[in-house]
Amino acid sequence: MSEQRDLVLDVQHLTKHFPMGGMRDARKVHAVEDVTFSIPRTEIVTLVGESGSGKSTTARLISRLIEPTSGEVIYNGTDVLKSQPRGASLDYRGDVQMVFQDPFGSLNPAHTIGYHIERPLLIHKKVSGRKELRERVLDLLNTVGLGPAEETAEKFPYELSGGQRQRVGFARALSVEPKVILADEPVSMLDVSIRVGVLNLMKRLADDSGLSFLYITHDIASARYISDHTNVMYAGRMVEGAPSDELVHEPAHPYTRLLLSAVPNPHAGLRTQETVARGEIPSLIDPPPGCPFAARCPHVMPVCREVMPNAVTIAPNHWVRCHLYGDGGVSPLPTAANSVG
Ligand SMILES: Nc1ncnc2c1ncn2[C@@H]1O[C@H](COP(=O)(O)OP(=O)(O)OP(=O)(O)O)[C@@H](O)[C@H]1O
Ligand code: SF4
Ligand SMILES: [Mg+2]
Repeated sequence: MSEQRDLVLDVQHLTKHFPMGGMRDARKVHAVEDVTFSIPRTEIVTLVGESGSGKSTTARLISRLIEPTSGEVIYNGTDVLKSQPRGASLDYRGDVQMVFQDPFGSLNPAHTIGYHIERPLLIHKKVSGRKELRERVLDLLNTVGLGPAEETAEKFPYELSGGQRQRVGFARALSVEPKVILADEPVSMLDVSIRVGVLNLMKRLADDSGLSFLYITHDIASARYISDHTNVMYAGRMVEGAPSDELVHEPAHPYTRLLLSAVPNPHAGLRTQETVARGEIPSLIDPPPGCPFAARCPHVMPVCREVMPNAVTIAPNHWVRCHLYGDGGVSPLPTAANSVG
């Protein structure tokens, strides 16, 4: 599943089980289970999945906001979970920045936009002196398309639109000169009309500034628009990963096909023929063995309820975790190309 390329981040078997909370309750929420994927340098990689599939928990684990139950997060060849005690990883925390979903809640209404960008510059000692501080703030505002920067710096959050506030979020993340940005649903709270502008900003930063992105979304169409590679998550597990175009044209996993069937027109010509019931992600509390999608899958077989499928490579950089594929597989689903009726 791991690509032989220049990887800035390589996530291996990442797992997070949250205790249920009660003193006598030994049960665990299996929020993230054996998640493996990588981010090549300067690429945008998407995690897509429904609510509760474990996307944010994965990002929080990578950023070290929370500690994993097990697994590795290899950054530039070093396992950051092993090599750095939690409090001593300022370099990594600077290099890997998060941008959050809520552009309204993440800014303090009492402070100017300039103040919000000054803070990380000062905390991470990125500038020496007031003059350089001011120049960097204006620079960053221009980089994220918030010019005229002198005016924007003096404004308060309530004077900006949601899209502009999200751009402030990116300016703050950029201020510490990160190498990777983990963008957790950065456009889901924005009007559809301004989403593309923020997505284009991410694309430009990847192309021009050499940044790498993890883009988290519910929306497989935006994943295809913005990212090089897309990984699909379901109930805490990765179920399929492929180059984004290929994933949309040749979805293999029944769940990926369900996601695509919910998109009005993911691309010209694709119509999946899934008749999968909508429905909820199964309980993540001590889940039973077998494929987590079994309860909703129209292709379910007895083996699916007993045995977790292995990840099987079906094309270069395209893998799937489903008993329909690989050794012992019954028969692959028709491809999108030949399923078009
Ligand atoms: N601190 C916690 N304690 C217990 N369970 C948690 C905790 N954080 C997350 N979870 C559970 O882990 C699962 C995955 O949550 P997560 O927030 O990662 O999903 P998500 O894919 O980001 O969903 P959304 O699209 O709604 O943001 C959910 O069932 C959630 O309730
Ligand atoms: S393993 Fe079985 S239940 Fe799971 S997606 Fe594949 S066919 Fe469906
Ligand atoms: Mg989330």
